[in-house]
Amino acid sequence: MLTHQQKLDRLVQLGLEISQIADLDLLLEKVLTEARHLLRADAGSIYVKENDRLRFSYSQNDTLQKRLQPGKKLIYTTFTLPIDNFSIAGFVANNGETLNIPDAYKIRDQYPFSFNPKFDQISGYRTHSMLTIPMKNSRGDIIGVLQLINAQDDQGNIIPFPKEDEPIVRHFAIYAANAIERAQMTRTTIERMISMAELRDPKETGPHANRVASYAVVIYEAWGQKNGLRQEEIDRMRDSLRLAAMLHDVGKVAISDVILKKPGRLNDDEYNIMKQHTIHGARLFQNARSDFDEFSAIVALNHHERWDGKGYPGHVDVQTGRPLPGFENENGTAKGKQGEEIPLFGRIVALADVYDALSSKRVYKKAWSEEQVLAEIEKERGKQFDPLVVDCFFERLDEIRAIAKRYPDEPPKE
Ligand code: C2E
Ligand code: SIN
Ligand code: SIN
Ligand code: FE
Ligand code: FE
Repeated sequence: MLTHQQKLDRLVQLGLEISQIADLDLLLEKVLTEARHLLRADAGSIYVKENDRLRFSYSQNDTLQKRLQPGKKLIYTTFTLPIDNFSIAGFVANNGETLNIPDAYKIRDQYPFSFNPKFDQISGYRTHSMLTIPMKNSRGDIIGVLQLINAQDDQGNIIPFPKEDEPIVRHFAIYAANAIERAQMTRTTIERMISMAELRDPKETGPHANRVASYAVVIYEAWGQKNGLRQEEIDRMRDSLRLAAMLHDVGKVAISDVILKKPGRLNDDEYNIMKQHTIHGARLFQNARSDFDEFSAIVALNHHERWDGKGYPGHVDVQTGRPLPGFENENGTAKGKQGEEIPLFGRIVALADVYDALSSKRVYKKAWSEEQVLAEIEKERGKQFDPLVVDCFFERLDEIRAIAKRYPDEPPKE
């Protein structure tokens, strides 16, 4: 177990580490992982404030995780709670107080809330100790709630959370709150860029971008594990990948909405103009200053290439849009990139994007059934799509389905 001094040292290091994560989902994952390690908690959840409610946004549970096959992730559903005194998380957000509960099933009647055993009943888990901490930013506003469950001693026995750990985790919660607030701002900015690009209501475009981005991350994680990448490498890349994948279609900003919103099939001329969104997108991120710029340019440019070489825009000069020397077709277009000429992130987002496009309603098409979508992907394995990327996709299908539920086109009524 870490000594108190080691925990303090780790805390400073963590403040730095979490300040470097740009993407909100990945930040929540990191915050919870590290808070659990710091205090040796078997499980935990993060609630994020959304309007005047708390959204159950992220959750981990080592015990339940161990019952799964290696590489699989726990699937959980999100829900919201009112910020009032009738749930544990609600109480903590409402009063800004930390609650350290030794046994969730023996909450003293001085409190207005009781523990909701529904989750335990469904999962077969047994919640004992619970440390629930408000996440306040530097101005003192509540950003969310961090909940740690079942502290463990060196032998793995479940114990109450030690009182002396409370200041450490409260301090960590301030770092976390500020980082989450910044990541929320980044996410909002990206969602605004996308809605400008598509000149549509962000309700419609935000979810598509978030789904494609989360699918891409899951596929990349599977690909990285299969190909023996180190976990730190995967973690570092996926943050920029997620943001880049959200912006795959940002080049549509340059396409007139007469074409973009045409309620029917495009004719050849219109489709040729539409294809330029790849090049327009890549131009926005030229003169890369960060991994994020570099990956965004790669994803925008390459997400419509096909494994068999029949995609677009092919081997072009991004600046001029013209074919690179030696890659001209007779009709003046560029030869498509083929196989591993297409950067990995292009191959991954290509599949994520088409999976989502086929599964969704568009102005020009109906949503396909899941059966039809999966059959199409299988059929295009090795043609439109990288066969290994398709394998990774099918391996993680449960997670992919859970993501679709987390980012529905219409926010659920609650
Ligand atoms: P999107 O709607 O996000 O679709 C992304 C990709 O999903 C498409 O790239 C295509 O590879 C795949 N996809 C979408 N619908 C279908 C389908 O019904 N069948 C099949 N086999 N694949 C499908 P693509 O074709 O290069 O199109 C790029 C973007 O151009 C689309 O993005 C959409 O914004 C626009 N677009 C394409 N075709 C039409 C059309 O007929 N009408 C309109 N209004 N827009 C279109
Ligand atoms: C909470 O009250 O913290 C969440 C719901 C519950 O598990 O009681
Ligand atoms: C991600 O962290 O973006 C992928 C996992 C998820 O969204 O559930
Ligand atoms: Fe596209
Ligand atoms: Fe798209």
